Amino acid sequence: MSLPPNVITNDDLKKNGLETTNEWIVQRTGIRERRVTDAETASSDLAIAASLQALEDAGIDAKDLDLVLCATATGDYVWPATACIIQQAIGATKAGAFDLSAACSGFCYGVSTATGFIQSGMMDKILVVGVDTLTKHLDWKDRSTCILFGDGAGAAVLSACAPNEGVLSSVLGADGSGLKSVWLPAGGTRTPINAETFTDSASEHDTHLQMNGREVYEFAVKIVPQTILEALDKACLRPSDIDLLVMHQANIRILHSAAERFGIALDRLVVNVDRYGNTSAASIPIALREAADSGKLHKGDIVVTMGFGAGLTWGANVIRWTRDYGI
Ligand code: UT7
Repeated sequence: MSLPPNVITNDDLKKNGLETTNEWIVQRTGIRERRVTDAETASSDLAIAASLQALEDAGIDAKDLDLVLCATATGDYVWPATACIIQQAIGATKAGAFDLSAACSGFCYGVSTATGFIQSGMMDKILVVGVDTLTKHLDWKDRSTCILFGDGAGAAVLSACAPNEGVLSSVLGADGSGLKSVWLPAGGTRTPINAETFTDSASEHDTHLQMNGREVYEFAVKIVPQTILEALDKACLRPSDIDLLVMHQANIRILHSAAERFGIALDRLVVNVDRYGNTSAASIPIALREAADSGKLHKGDIVVTMGFGAGLTWGANVIRWTRDYGI
């Protein structure tokens, strides 16, 4: 995992003139602070740092990778893919590279895609990176969005394992009718950013992340349990089999409602939204790293990852963890 060093607390936002309070943000979201990149740092900088750590931790040489798959909604450029920047920087000379756009569900989509390539026998070793620097696209005067997001990256190396180990099942879903529930309107081919379009405050507004928080919240509380149950069912497992629940970190209330729904004790629910806010595609791999470091993740554990976000998209993976950290 990799996070920028600059910490912005809720009180910092208030001090900067935002009409909010620490109490409101903590109560409604669980967020206390977030990390924010400086002007010189782009998504690939965080992604490369996380990728190098993942390779070292896995004991795998970058030259042995078949694919670099980067899940991001905030690539360094509109194109080419940020995965190519990572591929070159880490020296993955024999790997293909592409980006995957599934916003906060990106890491789950990436793990599912990588699993498919490996299970088909087409590839052996794949680096999956989740990175986002959404703070670059925030309107810091919009209290309904700017309090929520932070920057970060997480990476994992996936490789072939024995049957009934590793990724046991995957569920991916999407509902494009929710396109405008959380989106960034300008900068694509529908509304390119150029001197002609960038003329008034309305179009300036379109260059920032926009969200109907209530809509996304209602979508999340419905889709989270449904998707987890579907993924467990595909793996012939039940909620009581879950050793660790690693969900996308958008709001502590969404995390707690899922844990409560499945009777999961809070020490089996990984939380980092309090310290990093919503880091989009990075939140799940960061949570996995922290779970491993704190001794919460063991070889043989049933780990359920679940992500949801813009698109609208959602995804889950049920994993029998194969790695022993000796903690
Ligand atoms: O990764 C996926 C993307 N996003 C999400 O998952 C976000 C999901 N949604 C949420 O987490 C919640 O909907 C929010 C945290 C964004 C908002 O919480 P809420 O309980 O749904 O609040 P609300 O939007 O209904 O706003 C309630 C009130 C409003 O005031 P009035 O109209 O009741 O007078 C807002 O204007 O709170 C006000 N408000 C704030 N007050 C202080 C909104 N933002 C703030 C703020 N500080 N930062």
